[in-house]
Amino acid sequence: MLIRYPSDIPPSEITSRDHYLSRRQWMAGAAGLALAGLSGRADAAALSAVKSPLSAMDEKLTSKEDVTRYNNYYEFGVDKADPAAHAHTLKTTPWTVKIDGLVGKPAEYALEDLIKPATLEERIYRMRCVEGWSMVIPWVGFPLADLIKRVEPKSNAKYLAFETVYRPEEMVGQRGLLPVLNWPYVEGLRMDEAMHPLALLAVGLYGETLMNQNGAPIRLVVPWKYGFKGIKSITRISFVEKEPETSWSQQAPGEYGFYANVNPAVDHPRWSQATERRIGEGGLFVKRRPTLPFNGYADQVASLYSGMDLRKFY
Ligand code: MTE
Repeated sequence: MLIRYPSDIPPSEITSRDHYLSRRQWMAGAAGLALAGLSGRADAAALSAVKSPLSAMDEKLTSKEDVTRYNNYYEFGVDKADPAAHAHTLKTTPWTVKIDGLVGKPAEYALEDLIKPATLEERIYRMRCVEGWSMVIPWVGFPLADLIKRVEPKSNAKYLAFETVYRPEEMVGQRGLLPVLNWPYVEGLRMDEAMHPLALLAVGLYGETLMNQNGAPIRLVVPWKYGFKGIKSITRISFVEKEPETSWSQQAPGEYGFYANVNPAVDHPRWSQATERRIGEGGLFVKRRPTLPFNGYADQVASLYSGMDLRKFY
């Protein structure tokens, strides 16, 4: 399978945001994905999406180059450049997502069938990594709530548990004798968090299908939480009664919690969370930005946590 690395894409082919927003939207979103799938291509296909009022429109976008080359995806290695170099080995077509647990319509859904009923939206979100850096990314996706409603959760479904694909033969980082994490990567959300309109299932960015290093073909984006909640290449979503395990809190429970809401007042044990470096704002003397509670989305999401001690539930 062919993949075009970002370094092979001439700058003339990288769609500027203005061009992308103004260009005639020539392809239905789901059809775009189907096309990419049918042709077996791993490189990006154009997606059409409607603009969303939930976008952070006043922020300067992080360049597509940085978004697709500076990544965390430990299944492909621990360095920031590893995912862009190695993720092409993951076969993303065909792709299914198993939906099971406490739902009325459990099934192994073909990706196209999950996406077809949805209206794809462009959502420009800030992303804050727990390591102290941030980006602004124009995702293309649909609300997780849309999918949840379609599969008819039962009343005792209190949480969603997400799982990334486990394929050591296609993911070099899953093959080592000393795994960085317990594979597969798992994450979770409380049902009210998952139903929040900002919680997104992303299938693209910068107007095109996701590159493998960003979590193709479908990943979670929860902009008020640290980036590690945004599980990539989702292959299973289970509706469960109890709080599910999450990879990073299994790995270091004292450092990473289930909630992982961006919180400048609660430092990581080994570093401060008060400020962040915006990727692309280069230079030694560029000032770090102050980190905002809930990554700047407090107006929309703080009420989900009223009455909770956020130092305890970090
Ligand atoms: N999902 C999987 N399956 N494996 C990972 O290692 N890393 C997480 C998250 N999702 C990760 C993952 C972390 S730590 C971050 S900050 C974001 O993905 C990074 O997303 P990006 O590379 O698209 O910026």
